[in-house]
Amino acid sequence: MSLPPKPRIEPEADIHSLLEVRWSPRAFTDEEISPQTLRPLFEAARWSASCFNAQPWNFIETRRGAEAFDRLLDCLTPNNQSWAKNAALLVLAIARLNFENGKPNRHAYYDLGQSVAQLTLEATAAGLGVHQMAGFDAARARERFQIPEGYDPVSTIAIGFPGQPERLPDKLQERELAPRERSPQRAFLFAEQWGVASPLTEDPRPKS
Ligand SMILES: Cc1cc2nc3c(=O)[nH]c(=O)nc-3n(C[C@H](O)[C@H](O)[C@H](O)COP(=O)(O)O)c2cc1C
Repeated sequence: MSLPPKPRIEPEADIHSLLEVRWSPRAFTDEEISPQTLRPLFEAARWSASCFNAQPWNFIETRRGAEAFDRLLDCLTPNNQSWAKNAALLVLAIARLNFENGKPNRHAYYDLGQSVAQLTLEATAAGLGVHQMAGFDAARARERFQIPEGYDPVSTIAIGFPGQPERLPDKLQERELAPRERSPQRAFLFAEQWGVASPLTEDPRPKS
C-alpha cells in the first residue's frame, strides 16, 4: 500500500522517490496501524540530528477509539477536525525549550521539525500518510495533556493509511486531488549574497 499519486510534480532536479511521492493527505482508511508499523516512525524521529544532541522533542501519541484521541481531536480547529477524526493516530509534537543546563535552546523548534520530517519519511516508506497541523489550540492541549512549563506543544500530526478522497466533503476532495505546488528554487536559493539567485537554480537537464 502507498500514498495515491497526486498529479505528477515537476522537480527542478532529480530527487529521492520518497520525497517525490510524499504529500499531506486528508482521507484515511479505517485501518488500524500495528505497533510494529508505528514503532519505526518514532525511531526515525529519535535518530534525527539536533543542536548539541539535546533531542528537544516529545510526542504524545493517541489512537483512534481511545479517550485521549478525542481529547486531542477536541483541541483541533473545526476544519482540521472534519478530516483528522478519521486518522488512525493523532500525535501532539512538543518542543523542550531549554537545554539541561537551563539555558534557552534557540534551535528547539528547528530540531523538533527535523525529527518530524524524519518520522514523515519513514511513514511514507511504510505506505502511511502523514498530515501535520498548526491549526489547534495549544493552550487547551497544554491543559488537557498536562504539559509542564518549559515545553511548548507546537503541532499535531494525523497519521493513517491513505483512503479514498470520496470520503471527504466536496471542498476537501478538490484539495486532495489538486497538484502540489512549490516556489521555484530561484526564490530561496541565493549564492554569495542575499537576493542573488544561485546558478544551481538553473536546471541543466534537457527540456522534455
Ligand atoms: C507546521 C505545519 C502546519 C500545518 N498546518 C496545517 C493545518 O492546520 N491544516 C492543514 O490542513 N494542513 C496543514 N499543514 C499541511 C500543509 O498545508 C502542507 O504541508 C502544504 O500545503 C504542502 O503540501 P504537501 O505536504 O502535500 O506537499 C501544515 C504543515 C506543516 C508543516
